[in-house]
Parts: sequence; structure tokens; C-alpha cells
Amino acid sequence: MKAVILASGEGTNAENIVSFFENKKDHVQIVGIISDQPESGVLKKAKRWNIPAVLIKKKVRERSIHEREVFNQIIKWGGDWVFLAGYMRVLGPNFVAKFYDEGKGHSRILNIHPSLLPSFRGLRAYERAFEANIPFSGVSVHFVDEGIDTGQLLVQKRFFRLEEDSFEDFKKRGQRLEHEAYIEAISKVLKGDYI
Ligand code: GAR
Repeated sequence: MKAVILASGEGTNAENIVSFFENKKDHVQIVGIISDQPESGVLKKAKRWNIPAVLIKKKVRERSIHEREVFNQIIKWGGDWVFLAGYMRVLGPNFVAKFYDEGKGHSRILNIHPSLLPSFRGLRAYERAFEANIPFSGVSVHFVDEGIDTGQLLVQKRFFRLEEDSFEDFKKRGQRLEHEAYIEAISKVLKGDYI
């Protein structure tokens, strides 16, 4: 697996993936990082890693141009997998199709979503789960398809909401699980252990 990480935010998932696979013989190599946000934590963190990182800014009404740039960069690095790690942009069907594996019947794009899918698809999932006052929530890692957070699930992990939880406590608990879930999901893909 030669994977490129796409991220828009702090980069804690990216950091976790990079450091987990850094010295392993697991055949996962992170060949590059792409962010669409100039001020993102992930670009700052990437300077400490020995991995190329670039900014490819969002162009609001030009999705296809933006996605072509992202695709070209991935190919330049020799990437054959894409790990979305807090990439706050929906990838269009043309982009997803480029990473479709006919033999396996899914794309070579993974995404982490901060809810127990199919609940709370889309943006602000932690916020909406917290506001809904549900007794537990969770995180999901899935293959990306053309829909919004609709692709085949690989790993889900559940966490309980405690009565005294502030939103920050709730989110922190979820984010710790995100890191575990992403590594588990990548490991499952490596072993082919998900059909
Ligand atoms: C994570 O909580 C991730 O689940 C979420 O963005 C955050 C990124 O944090 N992703 C989504 O909401 C995707 N719809 P990070 O930059 O610290 O990894």
C-alpha cells in the first residue's frame, strides 16, 4: 500500500497513522500528505515527518479542477491508496472511480467518520450526536463510495456518554477511539479480512 493522506484539520489521525506504520514491515508506506487548508495543523505537523506534504487549496466552484490536481499529485508520489483523515470535502464520483478496485468491489479510499454510521452522516457529527443526548455514540471507518459516508463499513467502535460529560470530554473519548479504529481498519485491509 502506498497511501496518501488527505486532511484538513489538526492531523491527529494522520499523525497516528504515520507514527504507527513508520517502522513496521507492514507494507504500508505513507508517500505524501495533502491538505486543502493553509493553516491546518496537519501541514505544521508534517514538517516534522520525513514525508512530502503539499497544500492544494479548495476552489469552491471548481471541484473537478481541484480534484484533478489532487489526483495528479497522488499519482506523482506513486500513491495507490487514499486515507481520508478529517478531509472536510466530499470527493466527486470521478475521483472515487479512479480508485475503484473492480476485483474487490470497493474503492481504495478509506475514511474515518466520527459517529456510528449510518447515524449522523455528514458534517458536525460529534456535535449532533452530543446534542441528541444519546447514551452512546461511536466512530466508523469505511470504504468511500459516491455517497456521503455511505460506503462499506470496516470497523466501528462504540463509546458511552457519561452524565457529567462536557462536549469536549465526549469528543476526546471519541477521538481516542478514532485512532485505534483507523489502524485496525488498515490492518484488516492488509489481511483482506473484511468481506
Ligand atoms: C476527526 O474527528 C474526524 O473523525 C473528523 O474530523 C476530525 C479530524 O481530526 N472527520 C469528519 O468529520 C469527516 N466527515 P484530526 O485532524 O485531528 O485527525
